[in-house]
Amino acid sequence: MQNDVSVFEVGPRDGLQNESVLLPVEQKVALIHKLVDGGLKHVEIGSFVHPKWVPQMADTDEVARTIEKKPGVAYWALVPNMRGLERAIDAGIKHVAFFMSSSETHNQKNINRSISESLVAMEELFKLALSEKLQIRAYISTVFGCPFEGEVDFDRVLKIGDRLLELGAQQISLGDTTGMGRPLQVQEGSKRAVERWDSDRVALHLHDTSGLGQTNAFAGYLSGIRAFDSSVGGLGGCPYAPGAPGNLATQTLVNLLESLGRPTGISRDSLRETTQWLEDDIGFNLTQRRSL
Ligand code: HMG
Ligand code: MG
Repeated sequence: MQNDVSVFEVGPRDGLQNESVLLPVEQKVALIHKLVDGGLKHVEIGSFVHPKWVPQMADTDEVARTIEKKPGVAYWALVPNMRGLERAIDAGIKHVAFFMSSSETHNQKNINRSISESLVAMEELFKLALSEKLQIRAYISTVFGCPFEGEVDFDRVLKIGDRLLELGAQQISLGDTTGMGRPLQVQEGSKRAVERWDSDRVALHLHDTSGLGQTNAFAGYLSGIRAFDSSVGGLGGCPYAPGAPGNLATQTLVNLLESLGRPTGISRDSLRETTQWLEDDIGFNLTQRRSL
């Protein structure tokens, strides 16, 4: 059977941005190489955000220049604005992920802009990225709940997604930023997104903050979602939930997809070894965080 599911590994970006330990470039590069060797075809290697806002990502330029790129693998980077996009292009990045939130307060706190200001700024970003022939995906955050505003009207999510697709995004990644999504809500939201945009243009970006990541992935799967974001070992966390796990763990996701008869091409042994390496050699305690 053909792989008709995609796994986007976001550990080196979403995972590490939420860890208090700052990894040196060599360790980040080693992590990315291990993930690719284990079969991951999409890896988000870091972000070009302001180094004062997220010091964990300050050296993404050097990481991007140092990694050995394998053919057939997409090395993604998260980009917040024009300065970030210029840095990404200079560093040789060919796959960029733009982002904004579906709740005003989160968008303001995260990128210092209103939703409408973000949508205007996106026009220039897409224009430059498309002229550079970059692949583009776009995250919409807080789609299943905002830590400041609570429930978010899913109609607003769909309207933002429409605009981002119109501008040229190849895929919208629906972000459950702080793991507030409930399974039936995720099933319903995913169904609406897949019906509107098609399953190859939607991904689910789940955080496991409340332990519902895997259940929510299954809920999305039942609604036709076939692309999922995850982080190795559940690396990461949440500033609003001390001690909580980060993104849905890649091994949990791979296990789920393969149990549903969908081959991923990703080695579970390799994911286990990489997680062990993160724990033994780098010093993360991922096992403890996984057991909420
Ligand atoms: P700002 O302070 O409003 O920026 O930050 P500004 O445009 O006013 O510029 C101020 C100064 O910063 C200028 O320098 C710029 O050049 C510089 P000066 O002229 O004063 O010397 N600057 C930069 N320097 C380096 N790289 C840049 C950059 N931009 C401006 N990119 C900004 C605005 C967007 C940059 C800031 O708010 C920021 O970095 N925010 C990112 C926060 C972040 O990383 N959040 C986490 C990622 S999102 C996420 O995790 C959610 C996701 O996983 C999905 C989900 O879970 O839902 C994706
Ligand atoms: Mg995230």
